[in-house]
Amino acid sequence: MAYRSVTKTLGILTGGGDCPGLNAAIRGVCRAAHDRYGMKIVGIANGYRGLIEEDVRVLRPEDFSGILTRGGTILGTSREKPFKASGGDNGDIVEKVGAIKETYRKLGLDCLVVLGGNGTNTTGYRLSWEGLNVIGLPKTIDNDIVGTDRTFGFSSALAIGTEAIDRLHSTAQSHNRVMVIELMGHKAGWLALYAGVAGGGDVILIPEIPYNIKIIGRHLIDRAKSGKSFSIVVVAEGALSVAEAGMEKKDRKKYRAETAVPSIAYRVAHEIESETGMETRATALGYVQRGGIPDASDRVLATSLGTAAADLLAKEKYGRMVALQGDDIGSVDLSVPEGKVKTIPRDHYMIDTAASVGTCLGE
Ligand code: F6P
Repeated sequence: MAYRSVTKTLGILTGGGDCPGLNAAIRGVCRAAHDRYGMKIVGIANGYRGLIEEDVRVLRPEDFSGILTRGGTILGTSREKPFKASGGDNGDIVEKVGAIKETYRKLGLDCLVVLGGNGTNTTGYRLSWEGLNVIGLPKTIDNDIVGTDRTFGFSSALAIGTEAIDRLHSTAQSHNRVMVIELMGHKAGWLALYAGVAGGGDVILIPEIPYNIKIIGRHLIDRAKSGKSFSIVVVAEGALSVAEAGMEKKDRKKYRAETAVPSIAYRVAHEIESETGMETRATALGYVQRGGIPDASDRVLATSLGTAAADLLAKEKYGRMVALQGDDIGSVDLSVPEGKVKTIPRDHYMIDTAASVGTCLGE
């Protein structure tokens, strides 16, 4: 049944890191907007870059049909940040934002729907101050967006990370080794903490809790003395030692450059070997966590958020980010996630859950 809708034409883009569930969300927005509200849909390529370059195309029903289970994003994405000066002067900001507003006007958009993480939704909020109507959807495997209880992409990446940790158990046991696995999560350790608990990690290191290698070493040696022939260490890519946490960013960069290792997992593995003498190996799971098809939970969440965004469009409720709130789908003002990262509170129940099953958190 078609309802009368105020919004006639919407532009949709995906920004930031890709993840499973993006196409499910695109489908949710477009199916509801087109089928229920009779809206016209313009697909914008490669995030905000597509608006700057007017790289757009009208999306027809066949374009957003059959994409529910496809990984990645049919629109393409980028990390284009129009409000961030690239050359040092602000001239290019004025130029980029001007180009975005011009494309929005030329296309006759009534609203811009942005699917993305902190950066994408923050840019959307700032564009709303430039007079554009914007609605945001919270996407990221990091689950670090303020204002929503969960982001789509997180559940699928959690399943991938957990499966990888499960696999490491057999090779660690066969070789009587310590295996270090690095999961994504630059500023927040949600993925490492949840996958570490799900996969039975013996040590879990997250950015929120700077680690002391001597405490980790003692934990691993105590495990060995109690007859455990192997250990699994789960590390978020943004984890850092107590010493590094006390450094200025530039000093930390210099310190890390002196001990050139590909990433944190290799650094921690080296530190563990030096501290304990135990044979240790490292694996950085990397972009595998963002690949492949969405799991059922992400498909449901992404579709629900997408259709909720279309409902806001129809009611002309702009300047909002749709959100999972408990068991319900609601929305928050786009100012809520702006410029913020949802890190793990020290009193979050999952930290106590991990500690209660004997996991060392590096402190
Ligand atoms: O945005 C999610 C994320 O996967 C982070 O966890 C990771 O640090 C980052 O993207 C990697 O960024 P890029 O895809 O630009 O290399």
